[in-house]
Amino acid sequence: MLGLILRWGIVAAAGVVVIPIASLLINRRSSQQVNEVVVCRADELPLYAKRPFRFGTTLATLVHHRPGAYLAFASDCTHGKCTVLYRPQQQDLFCPCHDGIFDLQGRVVSGPPPLPLETFQVEVREGEIVVSRGINVKPWLTN
Ligand code: FES
Repeated sequence: MLGLILRWGIVAAAGVVVIPIASLLINRRSSQQVNEVVVCRADELPLYAKRPFRFGTTLATLVHHRPGAYLAFASDCTHGKCTVLYRPQQQDLFCPCHDGIFDLQGRVVSGPPPLPLETFQVEVREGEIVVSRGINVKPWLTN
């Protein structure tokens, strides 16, 4: 009986670690086919406003986090795929499911997420906000 419980415990523990990492890697691979997305016009996104968008198959969020500065990140938490939220007061990205916290560069600050969030380069071109996967990825841009 103890052996059975131990075996199922190992299987469950492996699932908790392997499934989130595998799904993140699969998701990143499928979104790599898209190089850039025009999300909206800059004048359509007031300060502290957010706009969900798709970068290939990746659900992402664009945030106007400081005057003239934008942030774009993959919205699915790397722990359990809950939607990550931008918190303007704390200037961080928060996952309400298990209190995961990321900084504005997508790095894990605290909580259970095993990997950082994917972030994107943001540019304003002729009044349009363009999100791309740049060579030197900067998650936000200050004009
Ligand atoms: S799903 Fe985000 S911290 Fe668990």
